Amino acid sequence: MPTDKFYITSPIYYVNDRPHVGHAYTTLLADTLARYRRLQGDEVHFLTGVDENSQKTIDAAEKSGEDVVSYTNRLALIWKSTWEKLGINFTDFIRTTEPRHTKTVQEVWQRVWDRGDIYKGMYSGLYCKGHEAFIKESDLVDGFCPDHKAKPEHITEENYFFRLSKYQKELLAFYDARPNFLIPETRFNEIKSFVRNGLEDISISREKQTWGIPVPQDPSHVIYVWFDALVNYISGVGIKAWNAHPADVHVIGKDIIRFHAVIWPAMLMSAGLALPQKVATHGFFTMGGVKISKSLGNTIDPIPLAEKYNTDALRYFFLREIPFGEDGDFSLAKFHERYIADLANGLGNLVARVAKLGETLGDIEVSDHDMALLQRTPSYYHAAFDRIEINKVLSALWDEISNMDKNINDRKIWEKKGDALKNDIITFSFTILYLARPLEPFLPNTVQKIRDQFVFDPKRRVLKITKGEILFPRIQ
Ligand code: MSP
Repeated sequence: MPTDKFYITSPIYYVNDRPHVGHAYTTLLADTLARYRRLQGDEVHFLTGVDENSQKTIDAAEKSGEDVVSYTNRLALIWKSTWEKLGINFTDFIRTTEPRHTKTVQEVWQRVWDRGDIYKGMYSGLYCKGHEAFIKESDLVDGFCPDHKAKPEHITEENYFFRLSKYQKELLAFYDARPNFLIPETRFNEIKSFVRNGLEDISISREKQTWGIPVPQDPSHVIYVWFDALVNYISGVGIKAWNAHPADVHVIGKDIIRFHAVIWPAMLMSAGLALPQKVATHGFFTMGGVKISKSLGNTIDPIPLAEKYNTDALRYFFLREIPFGEDGDFSLAKFHERYIADLANGLGNLVARVAKLGETLGDIEVSDHDMALLQRTPSYYHAAFDRIEINKVLSALWDEISNMDKNINDRKIWEKKGDALKNDIITFSFTILYLARPLEPFLPNTVQKIRDQFVFDPKRRVLKITKGEILFPRIQ
């Protein structure tokens, strides 16, 4: 069977901060989609990494009393090892201070320059460090950036500008031709109307900065962090490979849609490079309705949570709790509640009940008719994954789990003996194994443990069940 390639990216994260549950959500979502595609037989390239060339980095290094290089080296390791500890199966981790990235950014800049789309001008305006972007007076609430609750700086300086306005028509035609470019649709509609209202050229360099990628024609300027950061998606594979197969999906949060759905495609159009297939945008993790973020001081580290419960529990909670595209409120109590109800009492208890009874039967011979049970895939599965409605997939799978639990109770299988018990055990074990397949992208470790307990040899047609460790221990 020929394998398809699938290229998926997460955003690259600012190193002014350690990873919190909001960042973990973005990366886990991308990881789940990557795992799903791998299970469909695709050769998956999953790129994540860190965004180091911003003003935030300099400020954070200063604050921690380190030089910028040692600081970024330390932080990049923290990010990488956090994803490793959370079991994120990325295939590449990019840092924007790497030579492969600098070279690609300068090459993209040169292409845009050669197209005549970069010019020099004066910029005077308000700059929000939280956004790493200029912000309009009209976006402020009582003089503060509403997302970062910080006062923007007033900046007047000479900048290089990108002729974004020139790409309005081309962008609109592109959106028309690609109705699924941005999901969910409501956000796509917002972007279309934003572009229809007219685009302004954007500043893409900062003057007299020492940290960042120099403008090839004028090293007294560094390339603006977003023009630099977006190009990481190309640097991760190289220009030639990007053109042959650009990203299938960029997974991002709703705060960075304009960069990905307006500026990024326009940059690629200008540079004569291929456009990505899809931008999938999720909502925020909030706490008491407020976005979780370092600038708001309400972050939660995902590692202790994964250590106390386990990484699959974290994945389950995040992907089940937030409907794709919408916000979801985080609380430790809610996390614990779902863990106990859905995992310990739900899936974990079901597997333990069937395994305990099944173990007493030794080698179980299975008929052709029973084997058919294994070959199914839930009808909603692929379509829901295409639309990234994965919380719906999980809730449908959990309906099947509750039904099975109810069925076991109704049939009182613990009272059965001989063939009657054997037949029920085969049915329930195979239903568990059938559910393990769609569950695998969400709960990879748990599924492995299930498969270790329910071993089916299709050649001999023998099922052997061994009760294993408790999947989700009851935690106080
Ligand atoms: N460096 C830029 C992205 C450049 S991509 C070319 C950036 N970094 S970030 O660290 O601030 O955010 C990275 C991602 O984390 C974004 O997709 C953002 O939406 C996501 N999240 C940050 N806080 C979040 C929540 N509280 N909830 C959900 N996602 C959140 O932006």
